[in-house]
Amino acid sequence: LFNRCIYMKETDSTQKVIKKLALQEAEAGVLALTERQSEGRGRRGRSWQSLDEKNLMFSMLLRPALKPGEVQLLNLAAGLAVKKTLRELCGIPAELKWPNDILCRGRKLCGILSEASGEPDRIYYAVTGIGINVNMESADIPDDISAVATSVCIESGRQFARWKLLVEFLDRFAGFMCLLTSRGGAAKLLALYRTSCDTIGKDIRVMQDEEVFNGRATDITPEGALVVQTGEGEKIFAAADVHHLRM
Ligand code: BTN
Repeated sequence: LFNRCIYMKETDSTQKVIKKLALQEAEAGVLALTERQSEGRGRRGRSWQSLDEKNLMFSMLLRPALKPGEVQLLNLAAGLAVKKTLRELCGIPAELKWPNDILCRGRKLCGILSEASGEPDRIYYAVTGIGINVNMESADIPDDISAVATSVCIESGRQFARWKLLVEFLDRFAGFMCLLTSRGGAAKLLALYRTSCDTIGKDIRVMQDEEVFNGRATDITPEGALVVQTGEGEKIFAAADVHHLRM
């Protein structure tokens, strides 16, 4: 799937770089990789900050045969691939928090953002961007996020070659994308996600816009939304922030 990699010492956002290439009719499989972003973007309009040369930040151009409403499935596939890579290559107990944050011992070390452009029935292109804290040490993590952020190095006690992590991730992600775009594959990918997502079965707090709900996460819908049993009955969240409560 991946055939071309653009490496930039610095850029505004690799999401933007890939979107420009998508509009110039670039083929699926292009990857933009950078050390430093001046306008790194996160989910729900947040920013994504990262120190240079220690982490991985990249975006991928995808042109899957999916409907825009199914773009969440790309997030789930990417989350599955990161979790698998971190467990198999780095030996850390990575957890997948719906929809696609990767945590270790309750702290976040990877964020994933998928954006798509298309018509109601078809995606023209999708951009999946990933930021993984790889070789940051405790002292590198800004004080204001030290309670909620971690890195592969902090969790495993050793440094990793970032290219190796990238290659191993791409290999696993290509496998999940192959499954997702095969006949009946979306259902199979969702079944894998349900068993791998650590949010399912947990007591959680969900924050959506200004509202807060407490409940137990019970399932994932075919579109990748989260089903939560709350005091007010069952609720379905297509996009929200989730916090795992201790059990
Ligand atoms: C999140 O957890 O909010 C998602 C963060 C996604 C960050 C990555 S870093 C590479 C790519 N370029 C961006 O501007 N954002 C994504």
